[in-house]
Amino acid sequence: MRLSIIGAGYVGLVSGAAFAEFGHDVIIMDIDRERIAKLQRGIVPIHEPGLDRLLDKNSDRISYTSNMEEAVREADIHFICVWTPPLEDGSADLSAVRAVARELGKQFVKLKVKTPIIVTKSTVPVGTGVAIQRLVRQSYKGDFSVVSNPEFLRESQAVADMLRPDRIVVGSNDPDAAKTIAGVYHDVNAPIIMTDLATAEMIKYAANAFLATKISFINEVANICEIVGADVERVAEGIGHDPRIGKAFLKAGMGYGGSCFPKDVRALHQFSNASGYDFKLLKSVIEVNEQQRQMIVDKVNKHLKILNGKNILVLGLAFKAHTDDVRESGALDIIERLQIQGANITAFDPLALLNAKKKLNDLVILVGNAHEGAVGADAIIVATEWPDFKELDWERIQSVMRKPLIIDGRNLLDPSEMRKLKFIYEGVGR
Ligand code: UDX
Repeated sequence: MRLSIIGAGYVGLVSGAAFAEFGHDVIIMDIDRERIAKLQRGIVPIHEPGLDRLLDKNSDRISYTSNMEEAVREADIHFICVWTPPLEDGSADLSAVRAVARELGKQFVKLKVKTPIIVTKSTVPVGTGVAIQRLVRQSYKGDFSVVSNPEFLRESQAVADMLRPDRIVVGSNDPDAAKTIAGVYHDVNAPIIMTDLATAEMIKYAANAFLATKISFINEVANICEIVGADVERVAEGIGHDPRIGKAFLKAGMGYGGSCFPKDVRALHQFSNASGYDFKLLKSVIEVNEQQRQMIVDKVNKHLKILNGKNILVLGLAFKAHTDDVRESGALDIIERLQIQGANITAFDPLALLNAKKKLNDLVILVGNAHEGAVGADAIIVATEWPDFKELDWERIQSVMRKPLIIDGRNLLDPSEMRKLKFIYEGVGR
């Protein structure tokens, strides 16, 4: 099949590479010429394990362009993979999606294409597929279909998630178009859920909101564990063996971050409200997530009292381990809260220093390793669960700190070992 990918971001590149691996001809389009020029030279602008290899392996079947006309000419099925960032009120900003839809309509007319299919991969609120239909129809009067085929990619595991998904969701009000899109995944061994447009759009939000709810739930359990003297790690283990609950996403910590959960949970809450439904549970999920970050700061306050002039080392800036992404990262949020109280912040991350530098103010000192940052520190906050942090020479770190306090926001370290090394150790819910 001949596929175009509109938007050479994270979702677009991973999807495009996988579609080429499935044997399709793929043209990847982005209005960012510099990005396209880089890709044409073999430079992948994002960090995602295995992506450069997959793009390279399938380079015969992949081309890049910043010209929409070319993308439309070279493909029959167009995947919209542009971003949908949050607006001030939490709703998804669909201006990029709309612009693509309008442009596709114009190109369909100009190139006199026959029965094209538009597929949304970007996470879009229920009703967007129908809105795309209307926008395209403003210029193009021929037959075309809109399909929703949401992605469920986790950063740092996106290539595997795309090549070996646990399910494929295809929603359309046109069953033939849905069948065609299911055919894009002909060799993939995964259940395919065929449904209508609105349901497919809803599945994506429901999936992310449910996972976020699991995280906020276990974080609340952690908070009560602290009060009653129980250990949330063992509680998670004890409930996770029940297949109805499942072990995944029961790690208590600083709350969820990243480019998806915070945005999608807020968007679902917002469009529920706009549809006249008060989604009470989601409101709490959001509040708990906020509170979880403040609780880390409260723990620092409990031990250091006044933060003005205190030196705090933040270990980890990425929103989770194995990525350089700092979007909605809990670490950045906590740094801001500590700075408001006058703390001096030093920070280290194995991969995300460059991205973090763009978002942090000049007062934050970024260091090349944890030992350097620990000299004279009054506290260390573990903010990302990088496995490397477990292997640090903690004895040496303890010896150079001014106060041996560790607030482990990810329950990464072994509390008894840390206490043996004479650290004052506080995790989350244990
Ligand atoms: C997520 C979804 O998993 C994916 O299906 C969707 O398509 C995009 O959003 P991602 O943002 O890459 O993927 O991160 P994920 O690994 O799901 O983690 C999200 C956040 O939750 C991170 O901040 C992580 O640290 C946190 N988290 C996750 C917890 O705090 N506890 C957990 O048990 C799991």
